[in-house]
Amino acid sequence: MQSYTPQSVTEAVLEQMQSTGDERLKNIMQSAIRHLHAFAREVNLTPAEWLKAIEFLTRVGKTCTATRQEFILLSDVVGLSTLVNTLHDATAVEEATSTSLLGPFFREDAPPLPIGAQISTADKSEEILLWGTVRNAAGEAIPHAKLVVWQTSSSGVYDLQEGDGSAIDYRGMFHADAAGKFHLRSVRPLGYSIPMDGPVGDLVRAQRREGCRPAHIHFLVSAPGFRELVTALYFPDRYLETDVVFGASPELVVREKIGDPEAPVAGLSSVRFDFKLARAGSVDIAGGRVGADPTKLAVD
Ligand code: BEZ
Ligand code: FE
Repeated sequence: MQSYTPQSVTEAVLEQMQSTGDERLKNIMQSAIRHLHAFAREVNLTPAEWLKAIEFLTRVGKTCTATRQEFILLSDVVGLSTLVNTLHDATAVEEATSTSLLGPFFREDAPPLPIGAQISTADKSEEILLWGTVRNAAGEAIPHAKLVVWQTSSSGVYDLQEGDGSAIDYRGMFHADAAGKFHLRSVRPLGYSIPMDGPVGDLVRAQRREGCRPAHIHFLVSAPGFRELVTALYFPDRYLETDVVFGASPELVVREKIGDPEAPVAGLSSVRFDFKLARAGSVDIAGGRVGADPTKLAVD
């Protein structure tokens, strides 16, 4: 037994954790303890402040439901999701299209649609066309790649946020053709506020941040033998510079073209984007995205 000082308690905890059976768990937890204790010492954390943080985290947990994952949102607004994703991106065996966040509005049950279909059923605003080719790192077409697409309505709302969240809209699952080509119709998405009615919103407000994301369309692109690509295409928007979840990057900003003679459908404002997939490496088996369909995550 010993009496503890702000320094010796850290050593004691690390010592007790030495017996952890799983080496990776031991490394992660020992490092987490070192940094957590150093943080508490650095800010001279008071009992009242730590209790406030515990209450906050309790609220974050209680805000999670079958359609809402407040912990992922917290990870997003503190940049941890983007940090973990960029660490994973650095393990790719080849250069691919930049990734972006999966976000809390992904669903596994996007309806399968034929090439050219419109993904919005209710929103009757102006149609836009998204088209391109799925390629490998050498620029060769990948035949029949799968593209899952999801976005907000033209008023900046995801289907999961409407009514009881069970209606499916602004989503689709497509397969590129034998030449790797795809095209689909949509409506122009709008930048939007992340859910601000929970503890994460309170934190973002306390930090005087805007809490908004620039307009974007999410894509999950996959093909056998390739690393799954989780990305999004961003439209010019005032929130590009202040994206509250650090998902936008310059390579993913697209521009609409009116009357592009190369577009597969004439008469629509169109966006061309060719996705590039990296070959799968050994780390890809475990999966590579922070996020999940919230309806598939346990909340009990
Ligand atoms: C989104 O892109 O849908 C999103 C990502 C992170 C947090 C909130 C929303
Ligand atoms: Fe989004």
